[in-house]
Amino acid sequence: RDKGRDGFYAGTVADLIVSEMQSGGGLISKKDLSDYQAIWREAITGNYKGYKIITMPPPSSGGIALVQLLKTIEPYPIKRWGFNSDSTVQLMVEAERRVYADRAAYLGDPDFFKVPQKQLMTASYSLARMKNFNWNQATASSLINEGNLAPKESEQTTHFSIVDRQGNAVSITTTLNGSYGSKVVVKGAGFLLNNEMDDFSVKPGTPNMYGLVGGEANSIAPGKRMLSSMTPTIVEKNGKLFMVVGTPGGSTIITSVFQTIVNVVDFDKSMQAAVNAKKFHHQWLPDEVFTEKGALDSLTKIRLEAKGYKINERGPIGRVDAIL
Ligand code: DON
Repeated sequence: RDKGRDGFYAGTVADLIVSEMQSGGGLISKKDLSDYQAIWREAITGNYKGYKIITMPPPSSGGIALVQLLKTIEPYPIKRWGFNSDSTVQLMVEAERRVYADRAAYLGDPDFFKVPQKQLMTASYSLARMKNFNWNQATASSLINEGNLAPKESEQTTHFSIVDRQGNAVSITTTLNGSYGSKVVVKGAGFLLNNEMDDFSVKPGTPNMYGLVGGEANSIAPGKRMLSSMTPTIVEKNGKLFMVVGTPGGSTIITSVFQTIVNVVDFDKSMQAAVNAKKFHHQWLPDEVFTEKGALDSLTKIRLEAKGYKINERGPIGRVDAIL
């Protein structure tokens, strides 16, 4: 009380701790104690049914997990179901199962690990987490992993679609290939080196980062350039500029540009609607249809699956940049 921090981490108390350590075979030294610093941290805040929750941030998991739990049960009428009724308990247990799975993957000391706290505490994330909750059966924990968070960095090649006031159009795509390329910055020059060698087919049948396979046509040879999927495109109608379009997305670049054009030309969508429309993708191998979430309604999916199409949801496909 009288000496503040030094009343505990230095002086008599510190000496007593260290001698207790020594007699018990412990590791903590006087230096460890004098090095220790408390850190001021922003509290976690959340909202539950109009109540503001102010609670402990990382390195405790408590605050985030508490807000996640409250957010997860918020949409359900537990008051009607009653205190500790089977429905209330089931719901809370299933929320807890999922939140603790997130705790195991996403929470730790924020000075060492980027904790995705905002994403974890959004209501839409909790809703998505409860999608596989089944009233008729306990969800097995073996089927639950941490939830899917939008990656911090989307796959990034860069595309620009530009039209100037004279009607000159530019469609330009440039690529580092993988996120941050080879992850090497040229010292003093301020740019990254790419890892474009991945766009070559290293040997027949061996897929690259984007799952693409190839053979002799795209084999590595001195002076040869690797096969890209970049599709910077200008569309004209009756000799006049109609659309400028392109996107990042590795192997999905081609199919994203394809669907964007079809969405406008065949399905009369506006440019924004064509860009926003959820995309699907097939690239021969693997023999699967990849779809963005919500691209196909459940009936369409069932019909296609009945014909033998293997359909798998994945993260965002493309990030189309276009002008009509
Ligand atoms: O040129 C290509 O096809 C690849 N280097 C593109 C990679 C890419 O788009 C990554 N990000 N979205």
